[in-house]
Order: sequence, then structure tokens, then C-alpha cells
Amino acid sequence: MSIHIGAKMGDISSTVLLPGDPLRAKFIAENFLENAVCFNEVRGMLGFTGQYGDKTISVMGSGMGMPSLSIYVNELINEYGIKTLIRVGTCGSLQPEMGIGDLVLPMTSSSNAQANKRRFGGMDYAPAANFDLLSQAVELAHQQSDKVHVGGILSSDTFYEDDPEDWKKWAAFGVLAVEMETSALYTLAAKFQARALSVLTVSDSLVTGETASSQQREQGFPMMAKIALEIG
Ligand code: HPA
Repeated sequence: MSIHIGAKMGDISSTVLLPGDPLRAKFIAENFLENAVCFNEVRGMLGFTGQYGDKTISVMGSGMGMPSLSIYVNELINEYGIKTLIRVGTCGSLQPEMGIGDLVLPMTSSSNAQANKRRFGGMDYAPAANFDLLSQAVELAHQQSDKVHVGGILSSDTFYEDDPEDWKKWAAFGVLAVEMETSALYTLAAKFQARALSVLTVSDSLVTGETASSQQREQGFPMMAKIALEIG
């Protein structure tokens, strides 16, 4: 047991999928894994381990935002020896050619958070995806969809910005999308010699103001979960 995870050593597979929402973790366990067993209920942050073909895979909620994800990723790596962490989540697109349901595979993530500035004494650290996971995901994604975007994203500390135009400065420098977790995930994986990737689906567009319908969310989500499970 760690402070925030009520699992015994060995209950969690060396590969963990991390949706933000614990109920999405439950959905993946119930719909994609065989013989899934729940290993965590602490704070409602449900985690499950089951079989995907001949692989044992775990899936657990990370919560929203970098502070929440960082707590779980620290404990998964350092207390349970997890080696591969794959976030499955949604993002807001910052580019006009990107539509709802498109897949985004972040090579790197910029951030407006202060954690890495503090870590590196004010200097910039560039958190990067694990290349092996990224290249496998890119190949699988292209097999399933012609709407796949690979590049840099922004991990924001705020969902509700004071300045509604704030995203435009990132968009002008080619940043594809905004979400709230990837920069911390990639940074912690690098710090502890683990492998990490985010597999994202566009759920809204800051360019057009469009948001996903519940049907689009349902259709977009299984595709990214499947990619994550295949590479995990
Ligand atoms: N902003 C931040 N995080 C998000 C968004 C967004 O627009 N969409 C999905 N995750």
C-alpha cells in the first residue's frame, strides 16, 4: 500500500493506462479486459488489472491536472515498480485543421505550470514522449484513422483561463492542442527511467468553440484505448 493507492505489491501490472476519469478506467476494464480485478478504491480513484490477449494490463484514473496525476505516477513508479505509463485522455484543439475526434500523439508538451521551472532553477526542460511507444502508436493510429496529429501540445494548469485569447500565442508556435497532464507525465517518467506516452482525442476546439457530442466521445474513446492497449 502506498499513501494514495490501496494495492498490494504485484496487484498492478508493469503497464498502466491512465485515463483522467476513474469511471473511464472502469469502462476500459469492463469493455476491453478479461477477468479484471479492482485494486484501488482510495479516494474513488478506481484501478483495475486484467488480461488483454496474452498481456496483463492495468488501468487507473489519474484525476484531472498535473498535481493529481503526479501523485499517482510517483507512487506507481516508486512504490509499485511500474515501467510503462500511457495516458488516454481528451484535449482541446488549437489548430483550425483539427476536428473533434481527431487523434493527437504528443511528442512533447510545453506547460504554463511552474513545476519544471522550479525543478530546473528557472530554466526550460523539454518533456518528451518515449520514442518506441510513440512510433508504435503513430503506426497503429494511421491504420485506424486518417486524422492523426503528431507534435507538441500544451499542458495547462487552468481549464478556465482569465484571458480567453491566451491559447493563441501557443497556437501561433504550432502547438496542436491543450490538456492538463502530459508535461508532468513525461517529466516524471524521464526522472525515474520509465516509459510514457499520451494518446489523446480532440474533445473540443478552441478555434471554433465546437465541443464533442456524447456519441462522438463514445466513438473517439475506444480508438485511443485500443491503441494504448496494443502498445502497452
Ligand atoms: N483545456 C484544457 N484541458 C482540456 C481541454 C481544454 O480545452 N479539453 C480537454 N481537456
